Amino acid sequence: MDAAASGIPGNHYGQPPQIILGQFPSKCEIKLKYRTMANLTEVRNKLSFAKQPYSTWQTTVDPKEMRKFQLLAHKWWDEQGQYAALHSMNDIRVPFIRDTVLNMRNDHPLGSPLSGTKILDVGCGGGLLAEVSRLGASVTGIDPLEDNIRTAELHTSFDPDLAKRIEYKSCALEDIVEEASEKFDIVVASEVVEHVADVETFISAQLNTPEGSLFITTINKTQLSYVFGIVVAERVLGIVPAGTHEWEKFIAPEELERLLESNGFSVMTVKGMLYNPLFGSWSWTGNTSINYALHAVKSSTQECLDPKETFQEVGKEQPQTEASIRTAG
Ligand SMILES: C[S@@+](CC[C@H](N)C(=O)[O-])C[C@H]1O[C@@H](n2cnc3c(N)ncnc32)[C@H](O)[C@@H]1O
Repeated sequence: MDAAASGIPGNHYGQPPQIILGQFPSKCEIKLKYRTMANLTEVRNKLSFAKQPYSTWQTTVDPKEMRKFQLLAHKWWDEQGQYAALHSMNDIRVPFIRDTVLNMRNDHPLGSPLSGTKILDVGCGGGLLAEVSRLGASVTGIDPLEDNIRTAELHTSFDPDLAKRIEYKSCALEDIVEEASEKFDIVVASEVVEHVADVETFISAQLNTPEGSLFITTINKTQLSYVFGIVVAERVLGIVPAGTHEWEKFIAPEELERLLESNGFSVMTVKGMLYNPLFGSWSWTGNTSINYALHAVKSSTQECLDPKETFQEVGKEQPQTEASIRTAG
């Protein structure tokens, strides 16, 4: 029962309701309604811990990361600013997604190569990659940080054609898994894995259709990635602000592959990406020791496996994080 339904203004969390002057109920009525609210809240809490594996207690959102991204939430579309390297990464990641998908399809609609394709952009930030929808795809962009979503929506609103094809939501991956309303032909998590609180939960919560594609770009966990990804990029050249990355959160491609394979994906491609700070440009390389991109395909035999059930089977502990920060803004 929510506060409105209780008849007394209040909230969901068993807090004493606030009384609005002029609608003052009798003392006994307040006591009764508050007691009812408290009881129902207790029941609701018990139910959510027992039945909903993707409750906010198992969030993949790391509040520390949210604080970092909050400071830059209005900077996404400054092409020379802190997100310049993500802007130029579009020059290689967009063709990678497009060409991989086209190679898997028989039809190649002219002008709109991705038309008819549903994409989920997880951790979309300000929408730099979500605007791949220009290629004809319909895109849902999600990010736990509300201010990122506002920036993304504002930018997309300047192009009405684009705005029709992109929907943004302020939430984490596990939240839409909980809704489980739809699945996607393509899921993209570009430069996100290294910022989540729990990579295993994140990977087990993917929302691909059977035989759908998952694209991930992230940073390897090597000595080179420490030197170039953190010391040089953050402290020497200032390509990204100091403190953007934590080496402990980087993940080796082999480890990511293992997680994906154990969650019903077949990894098709892993390839290295190299950033040239002189030109501010990215290129492909055979070396995955710093940045890399991965393409995996969801197995068709996983069709009936509900990601919530997958997670329940794993039976993980619930990390204690500040779920409230996901709506910071
Ligand atoms: C480096 S940015 C990448 C943004 C975008 N994918 C791009 O490449 O332009 C990382 C983004 O991941 C988001 N993020 C962090 N943890 C997340 C989580 N658990 N679920 C979804 N997004 C998350 C952050 O809010 C941030 O916008």
